[in-house]
Amino acid sequence: IQADFTLSPERAVAPVNRRTFGSFVEHLGRCVYTGIHEPGHPAADEHGFRRDVLDLVRELGVSTVRYPGGNFVSGYRWEDGVGPREQRPARLDLAWHSLEPNHVGVDEFMSWAALAGIEPMMAVNLGTRGVQEAVDLLEYCNGTAPSALARQRAANGHPEPYGVRMWCLGNEMDGPWQLGHKTAHEYGRIAAETARAMRAVDPDLELVACGSSASDMPTFGEWERTVLTEAYDLVDYVSLHRYYEERDGDLASFLASVTDLDHFIDAVVSTIDHVAAVKRSRHRVNLSFDEWNVWYQSRPESAVPNGDDWPVAPPLLEDRYSVADAVVVGNMLISLLRHSDRVTAASQAQLVNVIAPIRTRPGGDAWRQTTFYPFSQASALARGEVLRLDAAGAPFATDRFGDVAPVDAVATWDRDAGTAAVFLVNRHPTEEAVVSVDMRPLGLDRLVDATTLTDTDPYASNGADDPLRVVPGPAKVAEHDDVARLRLPAVSWTAVQLG
Ligand code: AHR
Repeated sequence: IQADFTLSPERAVAPVNRRTFGSFVEHLGRCVYTGIHEPGHPAADEHGFRRDVLDLVRELGVSTVRYPGGNFVSGYRWEDGVGPREQRPARLDLAWHSLEPNHVGVDEFMSWAALAGIEPMMAVNLGTRGVQEAVDLLEYCNGTAPSALARQRAANGHPEPYGVRMWCLGNEMDGPWQLGHKTAHEYGRIAAETARAMRAVDPDLELVACGSSASDMPTFGEWERTVLTEAYDLVDYVSLHRYYEERDGDLASFLASVTDLDHFIDAVVSTIDHVAAVKRSRHRVNLSFDEWNVWYQSRPESAVPNGDDWPVAPPLLEDRYSVADAVVVGNMLISLLRHSDRVTAASQAQLVNVIAPIRTRPGGDAWRQTTFYPFSQASALARGEVLRLDAAGAPFATDRFGDVAPVDAVATWDRDAGTAAVFLVNRHPTEEAVVSVDMRPLGLDRLVDATTLTDTDPYASNGADDPLRVVPGPAKVAEHDDVARLRLPAVSWTAVQLG
């Protein structure tokens, strides 16, 4: 396979949005309890937050974190999670058939967010609740006037408002599994009315309307159109959610999953702009890709428990990620970056233990999954403007997507610093690719560093027993002056720094 790329200023898409590197913490399985929070753990601070996890979150380079769900939020009473801990009720979490002890709530999350150096992004419950509870939560979080809820927050030890800017108006309301699931029209109405009320409190909020839970939802397209017809001028974003997994041993199709992701994004952009045209609106609605990842939904560990017991923080959705999974994650990041003109926020789902780049053992270690590396490298190196590149190389055949070019890539260019970064995946299941990167149009002439994540076994992974089995290593650089040449192994992710 030969794939040639030229980095050109004419292909600038948009500035890199830091919010592209967002993540997600849901009260689900062990994401919160024994994930970010585990009082009594040797690494826990005085509030019970695991310092080893905080270190990994910072290393991952996470910008925003969406909270507290997910499906969980659609049955959540936020008031249960504030105030003296011993008075907080334990509740049935109907989304994940668990017992929610409410030891962590809004105030703890905000404290953790400050420690992690991330921007919190909140979701309100539009499943079992409505406008009033959403406005109350907003007032509790951001209120400055001497109102009862702002005072309650101060009395709970947090006099300073949290100033949360981004708010999700519910979660996956198109999904029949969602508590309080709605038709597009019903949801569009409650989203519009909630947005109107929240904007009466603070007109500068950034509000996210629920789009589709996946590109293959039967209501996809019509859902977005109907919701936006109700709420267009009141919201700033439409959400997208998408998870991929290898099915029936079809590695080639799995590696080519981003073919679907690119179409999904383009279709949502078109739908948004259609509604804007019909409404003669000059308001720009963008995309918040606020759940994306590899998730083995078809495996038994992803099934929601249904026994007689209601466990606290059971191990759910603890997928162990392979090299192939990391390549798909890296390719999803490439797609999000190349759509930076319209995808201006994103959240990988999720952060710790639950389909996550970071794993922990209760009372034990924390470690990096394979998928940690494409995220941390892209977050660390993507600076300046995004430069679009087209996937290249002689196509390989896939059952699900037809012929697909094997090498996909995107670049970023920091004009002022005189540096660039190139992120590449070789999605071919078996063949190496020889790649050239012509940096001359950017006035650059040096390959500063290049690393590759790969393995002879595409299913190799990291576990508690072997946490460093898969880590990025030096890339195979064939030669370089102002045209870098690299060899990308089959099923690999490569990050290149140029200067
Ligand atoms: O991230 C796991 C779950 O996936 C979320 O709770 C839900 O929003 C989605 O279906």
